[in-house]
Amino acid sequence: MKVLLTGGAGFIGSHTCVELINAGHEPVIADNFDNSCPEVLNRIEEITGRRVPLYEIDVCDGESVGAMFEKESFDAVIHFAGLKAVGESCALPLRYYRNNIDSTLTLLEAMAKYGVSNFVFSSSATVYGVPEKVPLVEGMPTGCTNPYGWTKLMNEQILTDAAAADERLSVVLLRYFNPIGAHESGRLGEDPNGIPNNLMPYITQVAAGKLEKLGVFGDDYPTRDGTGVRDYIHVVDLAKAHVKAIDYAATRKGTEIFNIGTGTGYSVLEIVNAFMRVNDLTIPYEIKPRRAGDIAECYADASKAREILGWQAEKDLDDMCRDSWNWQSKNKNGYK
Ligand code: WQD
Repeated sequence: MKVLLTGGAGFIGSHTCVELINAGHEPVIADNFDNSCPEVLNRIEEITGRRVPLYEIDVCDGESVGAMFEKESFDAVIHFAGLKAVGESCALPLRYYRNNIDSTLTLLEAMAKYGVSNFVFSSSATVYGVPEKVPLVEGMPTGCTNPYGWTKLMNEQILTDAAAADERLSVVLLRYFNPIGAHESGRLGEDPNGIPNNLMPYITQVAAGKLEKLGVFGDDYPTRDGTGVRDYIHVVDLAKAHVKAIDYAATRKGTEIFNIGTGTGYSVLEIVNAFMRVNDLTIPYEIKPRRAGDIAECYADASKAREILGWQAEKDLDDMCRDSWNWQSKNKNGYK
């Protein structure tokens, strides 16, 4: 299938692009490089031998999106493009709502006009808000604690309503947990702008000597060692879930939601210790106060994806720690 990847030059999009090519699909990337880099396409070509077609556009712009759909006959769309910094979304809510919602509406309008039926959406476990219990199951209550999360949940609702109104539409909502790791080649990886918000890129930048020490945000949570527990999933496993999702979307109509996690939670200190053990490195850290908005524990019940998509995570924590460092150590300044 010819698959449009919006935000396809990003961390998850680029890894998904590689796995789509490996599975015999034809990805096309639309990216404005707002939070990614053209170099990524060179790396994808290096890994796969394929020069992926690129549209350097803003997917909120109806004219550019329409021209792209006019030229390409897409079989499916995977919508990664979006602003994704939780803290920033609290400071700039209108920018987040405008960008993250408009892009979805623009794509849906183009899909309806050009008869494209399959839509996979990059959602997030953040839509569960503060979970009443873990592991998280797809049918559990949702509710968000920040504008970024609300844009994900609103997009889920928009897509669900669009599929209910248009019988041609097949929508798959993938709720990601915490993607980390990198392609085994070390040629693709996570390249955050500025000081990383997320745990693993912060750890790898401490290991690379770019940052002095890790701050552990709270050790007084009701967890086994007091630090926050999350469901970390290797980005290549997450990428492979998208290949399964577009194949599944092509077989049915309506909307389906899947948790994409490993089903196992690890604490911050367990991640730090695993990273040090696997890579034989020391990561200096200090305990700091809790980060506003953080929850104690969040991990997936991933059985629905296993049973219906035929997907489950295959890489373990050691793989995630090894591949994260392999990327950072070979790309001290990311793609720059
Ligand atoms: C993980 C754990 C922190 C940094 C966020 C978004 C979510 C998704 C993934 C987009 C927590 C602790 C972190 C640090 C720390 N993004 N931590 N020191 O917050 O679970 O999820 O990223 O979809 O929507 O909310 O990920 O990596 O920021 O934090 O102690 O310097 O690491 O407290 O327990 P999070 P994270």
